[in-house]
Amino acid sequence: GRVVVLYGGDSAEREVSLKSGAAVLASLERSGVQAVGFDPAEEGGLAGLEALRPDVVFIALHGRGGEDGTLQGALELLGIPYTGSGVMASALGMDKQRTKLVWQALGLPTPQSEMLGPDADWAAVAERLGLPLIVKPVHEGSTLGITIVESPEALEAAYRDAARFDARVMAERFVRGEEYTVTLLGDSALPAIRVEVPNGFYDYEAKYLSDETLYHLPCGLPAGDEARLAELSRDAFAAIGCAGWGRVDVMRDAEGRFWLLEVNTVPGMTDHSLVPQAAAHAGIDFDALVRRILDTAGR
Ligand code: DAL
Ligand code: MG
Repeated sequence: GRVVVLYGGDSAEREVSLKSGAAVLASLERSGVQAVGFDPAEEGGLAGLEALRPDVVFIALHGRGGEDGTLQGALELLGIPYTGSGVMASALGMDKQRTKLVWQALGLPTPQSEMLGPDADWAAVAERLGLPLIVKPVHEGSTLGITIVESPEALEAAYRDAARFDARVMAERFVRGEEYTVTLLGDSALPAIRVEVPNGFYDYEAKYLSDETLYHLPCGLPAGDEARLAELSRDAFAAIGCAGWGRVDVMRDAEGRFWLLEVNTVPGMTDHSLVPQAAAHAGIDFDALVRRILDTAGR
């Protein structure tokens, strides 16, 4: 059957998605799968997609309009199978704050946080959550609009910056420590990666542009800790109702405790991205990874 790879779109992560989509498309071509790419922002949205009569859709769209459940709902109504999480998990996963509420309700560890508004009592927020804290748009990806705040005075500017991306902005206690990410593929967790950004923060630049970001794989954790991290990530993924594939981002503090940050239901598939690296370490090359993700469509 015919595969349509959806990429691009008009979210703030458009550029990342164009790269993810191009990589997926090239891979399917190498595998001899009949596939075409489709950019909803340029080629007529849903009507244009329907006209292609896809048998299955590979979603390589990041952010709003592609990763947030709306597209998934449209595809359900059209009866077209698609890769990755369904409507509810996609919508929930796109909302970093509500994701955390679910994890908290289930007793899964995630740093304390609260919503911010333009009239917040900045000093009181800093007092409640403690410093440093991290301010983020609730619905954004690729670290866009995120600031680490070290003083109460810096909070308002951080809020304003995040509010350029999203009407909803949150503040979260900043966990100092090591950053890990775990890819979920079907029912299994792939080897964890530790991300290290020399003198910095794993921001948009470090994610997609810098060649200095270090990806530790194997991640260097003792086997028991890595097993705990994998189990935590599987639980976090299941709690949100995610399916197919995805990536859970986790911090480990100085005492060795893990803290869940977020789930990504359409992780990046660029040449700098984490999921392909984790898969390669597990012996799954990029083409095999893409085929395995495709196989999860409609399950
Ligand atoms: N939001 C980006 C694409 C990621 O999670 O990889
Ligand atoms: Mg993300």
